[in-house]
Amino acid sequence: MKINTLFCPSHIEELYFTGKTVVVIDVLRATSTIIAALSNGAKEIIPVSNFEFAMKISGNMFGGQTLLGGERNTKKIDGFNLGNSPLEYNRETVSGKSIIFLTTNGSKAVVKTKFSDTSVICAFSNLSAVAKYMASLNKDIEIVCSSRSGFFSMEDAVCAGKLAAEIAANVDGIEPTDSTSAAIQLAKSFGKNIKKMVGSTDHGKLLIENGFEEDLQYCSKLNSTEILPLFLSGSIKVLQPPSEPVENVTQSVSG
Ligand code: MLT
Repeated sequence: MKINTLFCPSHIEELYFTGKTVVVIDVLRATSTIIAALSNGAKEIIPVSNFEFAMKISGNMFGGQTLLGGERNTKKIDGFNLGNSPLEYNRETVSGKSIIFLTTNGSKAVVKTKFSDTSVICAFSNLSAVAKYMASLNKDIEIVCSSRSGFFSMEDAVCAGKLAAEIAANVDGIEPTDSTSAAIQLAKSFGKNIKKMVGSTDHGKLLIENGFEEDLQYCSKLNSTEILPLFLSGSIKVLQPPSEPVENVTQSVSG
């Protein structure tokens, strides 16, 4: 079982993922937010890669049960219902809703995997659940770090390294590529205190400057949920509902 990690996928064509098994990570904050929304009962997330398409498919296409969520320069987009803070995606707001979701890097990275065989959404919050699922599939894996406009993101790389290490602990004969071996080493060096690591990254610092410090705490929490969001036919839905009812995930973290 080969595990490859793409630190900066902007140069990779979407056809590269055809038929592959993929995990998409954007710790700050798109995949953390998608997982929060689905944990709080959202029906589905529809990731999009541009504003025009988001506007085109919004409106009454989903029986009035649609929200528009996402960010530009970390802030809510004008005319959207929600930004990209996982804390906004609480049960009262998102339960039963389809959410059209546009972010600078994360939603685009997910869309890029549309020709894959399996595309799973991962962040620190569901890392162990994804690792178990990947181990059970026992197929070659591409881990996609959404990164920041083509630049390396430490938080995504550390999450990828932790994921790869956990899969390797459960499956014999793992073959990490060079980038995955590097990610595993980064996770060993910087992954002991996730909150501290996340706060010291380029994107973490920007989010603090823009008033989103609480999001960092949320996005740093390891294994707060067991859900497995799967991107299939244009929509992200929970593959395996939690065995027990979950409390409102955003509320449990924020206080
Ligand atoms: C992205 O997709 O680039 C991020 O989720 C940006 C953010 O933190 O809002």
